[in-house]
Amino acid sequence: MKRVLFVCLGNICRSPTAHGVFQHYVNQSGLSAQIEVDSAGTAAYHVGNHPDPRSVAAAKLRGCDLSSLRARQAVRADFARFDYVLAMDLSNLSHLQGICPDDYHGRLGLFLEFARDFSESEVPDPYYGGSEGFDHVLDLVEAASEGLLAEIQQELG
Ligand code: 4NP
Repeated sequence: MKRVLFVCLGNICRSPTAHGVFQHYVNQSGLSAQIEVDSAGTAAYHVGNHPDPRSVAAAKLRGCDLSSLRARQAVRADFARFDYVLAMDLSNLSHLQGICPDDYHGRLGLFLEFARDFSESEVPDPYYGGSEGFDHVLDLVEAASEGLLAEIQQELG
Protein backbone atom coordinates (compact mmCIF):
# COMPACT_ATOMS: atom_id res chain seq x y z
CA MET A 1 0.00 0.00 0.00
CA LYS A 2 1.19 3.52 -0.83
CA ARG A 3 -0.47 6.66 0.46
CA VAL A 4 -0.23 10.08 -1.19
CA LEU A 5 -1.31 13.44 0.28
CA PHE A 6 -1.45 16.58 -1.87
CA VAL A 7 -1.23 19.90 -0.04
CA CYS A 8 -1.92 23.52 -1.05
CA LEU A 9 -3.06 26.57 0.92
CA GLY A 10 -6.86 26.36 0.95
CA ASN A 11 -7.49 22.77 -0.26
CA ILE A 12 -10.14 24.13 -2.62
CA CYS A 13 -8.20 24.69 -5.89
CA ARG A 14 -4.79 23.07 -6.50
CA SER A 15 -4.65 20.10 -4.12
CA PRO A 16 -8.21 18.88 -4.83
CA THR A 17 -7.32 19.08 -8.53
CA ALA A 18 -4.23 16.95 -7.88
CA HIS A 19 -6.32 14.61 -5.72
CA GLY A 20 -8.99 14.09 -8.39
CA VAL A 21 -6.60 13.82 -11.35
CA PHE A 22 -4.17 11.46 -9.61
CA GLN A 23 -7.07 9.31 -8.33
CA HIS A 24 -8.37 9.12 -11.92
CA TYR A 25 -4.95 7.93 -13.14
CA VAL A 26 -4.75 5.40 -10.29
CA ASN A 27 -8.20 4.06 -11.15
CA GLN A 28 -7.27 3.74 -14.83
CA SER A 29 -4.09 1.87 -13.93
CA GLY A 30 -6.05 -0.67 -11.86
CA LEU A 31 -4.12 0.19 -8.67
CA SER A 32 -6.89 1.75 -6.60
CA ALA A 33 -6.64 -1.01 -3.97
CA GLN A 34 -2.92 -0.31 -3.55
CA ILE A 35 -2.72 3.49 -3.70
CA GLU A 36 -4.65 5.76 -1.34
CA VAL A 37 -5.02 9.44 -2.31
CA ASP A 38 -6.02 12.43 -0.18
CA SER A 39 -5.55 16.21 -0.07
CA ALA A 40 -5.38 18.95 2.56
CA GLY A 41 -4.66 22.66 3.03
CA THR A 42 -2.10 24.35 5.22
CA ALA A 43 -4.76 26.93 6.16
CA ALA A 44 -8.13 26.33 7.80
CA TYR A 45 -10.18 29.03 5.99
CA HIS A 46 -12.11 26.62 3.81
CA VAL A 47 -12.41 23.50 6.00
CA GLY A 48 -15.54 21.53 5.03
CA ASN A 49 -16.00 23.39 1.75
CA HIS A 50 -16.38 21.93 -1.72
CA PRO A 51 -13.59 22.60 -4.21
CA ASP A 52 -13.84 25.94 -6.02
CA PRO A 53 -16.46 25.66 -8.82
CA ARG A 54 -13.82 26.86 -11.31
CA SER A 55 -11.57 23.92 -10.37
CA VAL A 56 -14.51 21.51 -10.57
CA ALA A 57 -15.43 22.81 -14.06
CA ALA A 58 -11.86 22.72 -15.40
CA ALA A 59 -11.28 19.18 -14.08
CA LYS A 60 -14.60 17.96 -15.49
CA LEU A 61 -13.45 18.97 -18.98
CA ARG A 62 -10.56 16.50 -18.51
CA GLY A 63 -12.78 13.71 -17.21
CA CYS A 64 -12.18 14.16 -13.47
CA ASP A 65 -14.98 14.59 -10.93
CA LEU A 66 -13.95 16.69 -7.90
CA SER A 67 -17.48 17.27 -6.60
CA SER A 68 -17.35 14.79 -3.71
CA LEU A 69 -14.18 16.28 -2.15
CA ARG A 70 -14.27 18.46 0.99
CA ALA A 71 -11.48 20.66 2.34
CA ARG A 72 -9.54 19.75 5.47
CA GLN A 73 -6.42 21.09 7.12
CA ALA A 74 -3.11 19.19 7.11
CA VAL A 75 -2.15 17.87 10.58
CA ARG A 76 1.01 16.39 12.13
CA ALA A 77 -0.51 12.88 12.07
CA ASP A 78 -0.56 13.03 8.25
CA PHE A 79 3.21 12.58 8.12
CA ALA A 80 3.09 9.16 9.78
CA ARG A 81 0.20 8.05 7.56
CA PHE A 82 1.24 9.22 4.08
CA ASP A 83 4.32 7.95 2.22
CA TYR A 84 4.29 11.05 0.00
CA VAL A 85 3.31 14.50 1.28
CA LEU A 86 3.51 16.70 -1.81
CA ALA A 87 3.25 20.48 -1.66
CA MET A 88 2.01 22.61 -4.56
CA ASP A 89 4.38 25.52 -3.87
CA LEU A 90 7.36 26.54 -1.75
CA SER A 91 5.19 28.39 0.74
CA ASN A 92 3.11 25.25 1.36
CA LEU A 93 6.34 23.22 1.62
CA SER A 94 7.80 25.61 4.15
CA HIS A 95 4.64 25.39 6.28
CA LEU A 96 4.72 21.58 6.15
CA GLN A 97 8.40 21.52 7.10
CA GLY A 98 7.43 23.53 10.17
CA ILE A 99 4.89 20.99 11.44
CA CYS A 100 6.59 17.77 10.23
CA PRO A 101 7.87 15.46 12.99
CA ASP A 102 11.66 14.86 12.78
CA ASP A 103 11.40 11.29 11.47
CA TYR A 104 9.32 12.10 8.40
CA HIS A 105 11.03 14.91 6.48
CA GLY A 106 11.98 12.42 3.75
CA ARG A 107 8.32 12.07 2.83
CA LEU A 108 7.96 15.77 2.00
CA GLY A 109 8.53 17.33 -1.41
CA LEU A 110 7.21 19.47 -4.23
CA PHE A 111 4.66 17.74 -6.46
CA LEU A 112 6.17 19.21 -9.65
CA GLU A 113 9.43 17.33 -9.04
CA PHE A 114 7.54 14.51 -10.76
CA ALA A 115 6.53 16.55 -13.86
CA ARG A 116 8.93 15.62 -16.65
CA ASP A 117 8.07 18.13 -19.37
CA PHE A 118 7.76 21.31 -17.31
CA SER A 119 10.50 23.54 -15.95
CA GLU A 120 8.27 25.10 -13.27
CA SER A 121 8.72 23.89 -9.73
CA GLU A 122 5.54 25.38 -8.25
CA VAL A 123 1.85 25.09 -9.15
CA PRO A 124 0.71 28.75 -9.19
CA ASP A 125 -2.28 29.71 -7.07
CA PRO A 126 -5.18 30.28 -9.54
CA TYR A 127 -7.62 31.64 -6.93
CA TYR A 128 -7.47 35.35 -7.81
CA GLY A 129 -7.04 34.93 -11.57
CA GLY A 130 -9.03 33.85 -14.63
CA SER A 131 -9.98 30.46 -16.03
CA GLU A 132 -6.66 30.08 -17.89
CA GLY A 133 -4.97 29.74 -14.51
CA PHE A 134 -7.16 26.77 -13.66
CA ASP A 135 -6.34 25.13 -17.01
CA HIS A 136 -2.63 25.65 -16.37
CA VAL A 137 -3.00 23.98 -12.96
CA LEU A 138 -4.48 20.97 -14.77
CA ASP A 139 -1.62 20.86 -17.31
CA LEU A 140 0.95 20.82 -14.50
CA VAL A 141 -1.00 18.39 -12.33
CA GLU A 142 -1.51 15.92 -15.19
CA ALA A 143 2.21 15.90 -16.01
CA ALA A 144 3.25 15.43 -12.38
CA SER A 145 0.60 12.75 -11.84
CA GLU A 146 2.04 10.68 -14.69
CA GLY A 147 5.53 10.86 -13.24
CA LEU A 148 4.37 10.10 -9.71
CA LEU A 149 2.28 7.13 -10.82
CA ALA A 150 5.25 5.73 -12.76
CA GLU A 151 7.46 5.97 -9.65
CA ILE A 152 4.88 4.33 -7.37
CA GLN A 153 4.22 1.57 -9.91
CA GLN A 154 7.95 0.78 -9.81
CA GLU A 155 7.94 0.72 -6.01
CA LEU A 156 4.93 -1.59 -5.92
CA GLY A 157 6.71 -3.88 -8.40
P1 4NP B 1 -5.61 26.71 -3.15
O1 4NP B 1 -6.12 28.17 -3.55
O2 4NP B 1 -4.52 26.89 -2.12
O3 4NP B 1 -5.08 26.15 -4.42
O4 4NP B 1 -6.81 25.97 -2.61
C1 4NP B 1 -6.55 29.13 -2.65
C2 4NP B 1 -7.82 29.07 -2.15
C3 4NP B 1 -8.27 30.05 -1.28
C4 4NP B 1 -7.42 31.07 -0.91
C5 4NP B 1 -6.14 31.12 -1.40
C6 4NP B 1 -5.70 30.15 -2.27
N1 4NP B 1 -7.88 32.09 -0.05
O5 4NP B 1 -7.14 33.03 0.23
O6 4NP B 1 -9.03 32.02 0.44
